[in-house]
Amino acid sequence: MTEPTLKEMDPEVYGAIQAELKREQQSLVMIASENYASRAVIEAQANVMTNKYAEGYPGARYYGGCEFVDKVERLARSRANRLFDSEHANVQPHSGSQANMAVYLSFIEAGDTIMGMDLSHGGHLTHGSPVSFSGKLYKPVFYGLNPETGRIDYDQVRHVARKSRPKMIIAGASAYPRRIDFSLFKEIAREVDAYFMVDMAHIAGLVATRLHPSPVGQADFITSTTHKTLRGPRGGLILCSEENGAKLDKSVFPGTQGGPLMHIVAAKAVAFEEALRPDFAAYQKQVLLNAHVLAEELMGHGYNLVSGGTDNHLILIDLTEKRITGLQAEQALGAAGIVANKNAVPFDKKGPKITSGLRLGTPALTTRGIKEKEIRQIAGLINQILSAPESEVFSERVGGMVSEICEAFPIYPYLGAPD
Ligand SMILES: Cc1ncc(COP(=O)(O)O)c(C=O)c1O
Repeated sequence: MTEPTLKEMDPEVYGAIQAELKREQQSLVMIASENYASRAVIEAQANVMTNKYAEGYPGARYYGGCEFVDKVERLARSRANRLFDSEHANVQPHSGSQANMAVYLSFIEAGDTIMGMDLSHGGHLTHGSPVSFSGKLYKPVFYGLNPETGRIDYDQVRHVARKSRPKMIIAGASAYPRRIDFSLFKEIAREVDAYFMVDMAHIAGLVATRLHPSPVGQADFITSTTHKTLRGPRGGLILCSEENGAKLDKSVFPGTQGGPLMHIVAAKAVAFEEALRPDFAAYQKQVLLNAHVLAEELMGHGYNLVSGGTDNHLILIDLTEKRITGLQAEQALGAAGIVANKNAVPFDKKGPKITSGLRLGTPALTTRGIKEKEIRQIAGLINQILSAPESEVFSERVGGMVSEICEAFPIYPYLGAPD
């Protein structure tokens, strides 16, 4: 029996996937948490390992027939440990949020105090937001940015920690453009006898190439996603010491998940292998350089950036003094083919659905091969749109230039032009 292809069997889903391919190929993706996974990573996700139940860990599964999935999980774990110089890696979390959940559930109790970065200052939902399990199960307290410098206020971190004696201190962010001082966090955590967790989801690719100081050796637990700067499949990762490994593993399975997504674990193994290669370090250097040039150019065009610049892959524009909200900026740029997201800025007076900020990142553009010259051009295009968000003429003109850049820096050419 010959089975129908996806196109034959389900033209609606096939059509949506083709449209998504076209959207990705024909727009400039500047969402700081997105990237284009490689052909090998995508291939590794689309395979028969999706069929396999593998509850447990390599060599200790609850199902037979696990010899080949064991092989990929062992490869993924050992490559992750090599990449980050860590002792123990759990590669099963389905997502960054589940990685965070597994850490909390294994080492602290419901009702304990956790301390994370304020969501509106750049933190993540899972660091104690009341709308997330983390704010419902635990008692959250927060630190934030110094209003003068736009950088983490480490005095406040120490003060809040001393006052509220959290059981777990979390460093890491979704919209913070500066280096994080993990050793200072560790010192504060030790002083108040708290566990220290680093959520390096955004900066994992920079950490892997040591372009951001590593939390390994500083934090008790390190969580990450694998799909942002790390450029792997969508998923989660946890690193810790050998000593904490067994307890942590139990918290992932059976604590918070059932069968691991073994096709995704296979793709994580591929992504870690790619990240171990020298060209990945060159890529990350270019991500940083591109972000730096983007920041300089936009400041040159008169934009305020939170903290006055960037040390990593993203920038956060503060639009408070401009006549445009984050939402309007996102929509106007989107109409011209530049995809970005509105983002709260510290002390934002507008709600999370409107915001006064715009977050821009360079990982996906850099994967396309875009360098400083085009970044300067793109900064100019962003300025044109933000200066006249309602102008259809500008939108069309910028849209045309976006198409030219996308054509000059194609992605997934082997997939051909979408139907
Ligand atoms: C710092 C941080 N942690 C965790 C996550 C959650 O990852 P996921 O969307 O895979 O649950 C994100 C996602 O944006 C993030 O930025």
